[in-house]
Amino acid sequence: MEFSATWIHSLLYSFLIIASVHLLHILIISQKLSINHQNVRVKKLPPLPLRFNSDGTFKILQVADMHFGNGMVTRCRDVLDSEFEYCSDLNTTRFLEKMIELEKPDFVAFTGDNIFGTSATDAAESLFRAFGPVIKAGLPWAAVLGNHDQESTMNREELMSFISLMDYSLSQTFPTAEDLSNPAKHSRVPKIDGFGNYNLRVWGPPGSHLANSTLLNLYFLDSGDRAVVDGRRTYGWIKDSQLSWLRGISKEIQEQKQDIKESAKTSKFSTVSPALTFFHIPIPEIKQGPFKDIVGKYQEYVACSFVNSGVLKTLVSMGDVKAVFIGHDHTNDFCGNLDGIWFCYGGGFGYHGYGVAGWPRRARVILAELGKGEKSWNGVEKIKTWKRLDDGMLSKFDEQILWERQ
Ligand SMILES: *[C@@H]1O[C@H](CO)[C@@H](O)[C@H](O)[C@H]1NC(C)=O
Ligand SMILES: *[C@@H]1O[C@H](CO)[C@@H](O)[C@H](O)[C@H]1NC(C)=O
Repeated sequence: MEFSATWIHSLLYSFLIIASVHLLHILIISQKLSINHQNVRVKKLPPLPLRFNSDGTFKILQVADMHFGNGMVTRCRDVLDSEFEYCSDLNTTRFLEKMIELEKPDFVAFTGDNIFGTSATDAAESLFRAFGPVIKAGLPWAAVLGNHDQESTMNREELMSFISLMDYSLSQTFPTAEDLSNPAKHSRVPKIDGFGNYNLRVWGPPGSHLANSTLLNLYFLDSGDRAVVDGRRTYGWIKDSQLSWLRGISKEIQEQKQDIKESAKTSKFSTVSPALTFFHIPIPEIKQGPFKDIVGKYQEYVACSFVNSGVLKTLVSMGDVKAVFIGHDHTNDFCGNLDGIWFCYGGGFGYHGYGVAGWPRRARVILAELGKGEKSWNGVEKIKTWKRLDDGMLSKFDEQILWERQ
């Protein structure tokens, strides 16, 4: 693995930013002309593992397509003429701050095109700015890449490495193979396409009898950027190696669940834990439909790869995935059901991304709720979603139930 000069530049740059934050500290140290080990900066982590709250809920904020550029100097696209003059990337930042303040999510999932490469002079700086509000709030978060993130000064591997090193980030560049006989032992899965394929587990509420069980699984996949297939240009897609890793991890999780079931016959919760999946580019079936019912707006051509690698088939065969959260098409914000799995667009969040003037930027919230037994919690009983508009009131709309335990 060889890091390019631009990455090193960006890394140095990020150190400079960190250094300037700690300027006073560094001044004192340099005056003493001594190396102080306290000056070594360690990545900040949220309390881990991720857990349901004591009230039995776990709330995720999905942020799709921030398209962050250089901040204040990066203008908004597709806003009303009257809005144009006072609109920049800072509006994207404020929208994220307001969503965090109002919804108080437990976790934030960024589904790609986090930065808009061609408008980002320095990828590292744009990433710091784009993810700034979550980091400032100390919230656990994770990101996958879209097709525009790598158009600046870092390639996809460099971006994911960098993102995984940012404060409170639970993102990973490569998945880890979990050794269930020894959960502390993780090793890297060999040979997998893409950067940013990984899974996260959400455990039971603290102090509850489910405190040591995972009740919800989150799968993150890299859907690539662009490709040329048989001389035709198309978007990226999720490859066989990624799907086989996904099948493997899902199977492992479900087998482990089976063990718990065997050993805890008294517990009512026992069936497979639901899972949610996050990636950027829609799958071809979303374009083909037909959807029985959709909730939300379908007003844009679905821009996906013409290669169908069997993502839907794989997800259906796994059995645990109840909903998939995507981005890429900013003016689609609907959820549609395909073969029993909901596919939900986040809807464009960022002001530098294309949109429709007068159609406010938006964000999606996902809420998982545990069922309550006579004395204690059961597993996940219900998964809901809704959206909010950046319309000044953060209007809530399109609330729907994605899954309920039968
Ligand atoms: C962008 O933010 C400014 C400053 O808060 C605000 O006045 C303006 O209305 C915002 N524009 C949009 C389109 O939300
Ligand atoms: C969870 O694991 C911890 C540490 O091994 C243990 O102290 C605790 O009793 C366990 N709790 C439950 C509910 O099994």
